Amino acid sequence: MRTRVGIVGAGPAGLVLAHLLHLEGIDTVVLERRSREYVRRRTRAGVLEQSTVDLLRAAGVGARLDREGMPHHGLSLRFDRADHRIPLTDLTGRSITVYGQQEVVKDLIDAREAAGAPILFEVDDVAVHDATTDRPRITFTDADGVARTLVCDFVAGCDGFHGVTRSAFAPARSETYQRGYPFAWLGILARTPPSHHELIYAYSPRGFALHSMRSPEITRLYLQVPSDERIEDWSDDRIWDELALRLAADGFDLRSGPVLEKSITSMRSVVVEPMRHGRVLLAGDAAHIVPPTGAKGMNLAVADALVLSRALARYLSTRSTDLLDSYSDTCLRRVWRSEHFSWWMTSALHRFPDDDPFQQRLQLSQLRYTVSSVAAATSLAENYVGLPLDL
Ligand code: APR
Ligand code: PHB
Repeated sequence: MRTRVGIVGAGPAGLVLAHLLHLEGIDTVVLERRSREYVRRRTRAGVLEQSTVDLLRAAGVGARLDREGMPHHGLSLRFDRADHRIPLTDLTGRSITVYGQQEVVKDLIDAREAAGAPILFEVDDVAVHDATTDRPRITFTDADGVARTLVCDFVAGCDGFHGVTRSAFAPARSETYQRGYPFAWLGILARTPPSHHELIYAYSPRGFALHSMRSPEITRLYLQVPSDERIEDWSDDRIWDELALRLAADGFDLRSGPVLEKSITSMRSVVVEPMRHGRVLLAGDAAHIVPPTGAKGMNLAVADALVLSRALARYLSTRSTDLLDSYSDTCLRRVWRSEHFSWWMTSALHRFPDDDPFQQRLQLSQLRYTVSSVAAATSLAENYVGLPLDL
């Protein structure tokens, strides 16, 4: 098999890249380890920056997003048993949209399949070779168990944090920066209308909690838990009780309902630099992950895909390497801003095991300052709605 750009991974990074290259008339093949059904159903985060929405719309995959996405113009920081609203749109002129990542993934798979462009699910043993030649290759086993080779001009590693593409990088020429956190998030999806029309980030003496949503009937909620927590130790009743305690505020009633899904996600910050080795380029979680507190993961993946699609399109039509050469630096500027913001939100809102009363008073003082100073609130809002993309 032969293609211009071999794309490993059918998450937001790989699918947006494949779609943007298709619009440029560039052939790609997408290789995905999981099944089509699994990828379309996998629950992930759900906040789209305005730039992400604008990009999906401009790329012709925004119709269902426009119908079903929920635009939000503010969010609440909840502490001291009260809501403190950050009016995102008043402060920045921009908004966010709540729309599940798997809905974005479904829309992109539908668009790819409608265009008749190749996407191979359930592939195994993916390995990338010859990164520094002008004919990098991907070897893999297809869904029928047949060993195959895909010869490419470029390989895009969009295979997430646990992907394999990064291992084609020469270790001596790349650096990994990371930070762990001594807690995880227990997330649930519940069949109950949201208890509030906006997101609530709650700081409480019992730890962090987040109220989010997926639709007028489905609520998404999270609890900070210790990193080694076992999901079996959390019955639905225990989850609802803990959410009610952490989200408690005067005049607020938490609506509970059947729990449709529950899982625990670990929290880390990781950045791999540079994001390119020869003709293999990383995008999205394959190159960097953020803790979910800033809601940046999917937006960074989409931003990388846009920058990469332009760099590849320029090279393939003009042989100019300028955008390929600047790809990593261009992306990393946005990545590090999001890394900082996600670390900051995480540090501001969670209880750390070694916190002392001094530290907790510092956190509360910072939260009170954030909601009472227009400058501080604007800084949070600007970061939350995200940097504009050059569309
Ligand atoms: N071979 C083929 N596909 C692979 C392999 C492999 N060896 N390893 C992983 N994959 C696939 C995964 O099954 C997944 O579908 O690569 C895809 C990577 O997608 P994501 O993990 O969604 O990563 P990305 O597209 O970068 O999007 C980042 O996803 O995890 C969230 O919080 C994160 O919102 C962010 C977004
Ligand atoms: C979600 O809705 O899943 C969500 C929202 C905000 C976050 C993280 C996740 O910061």
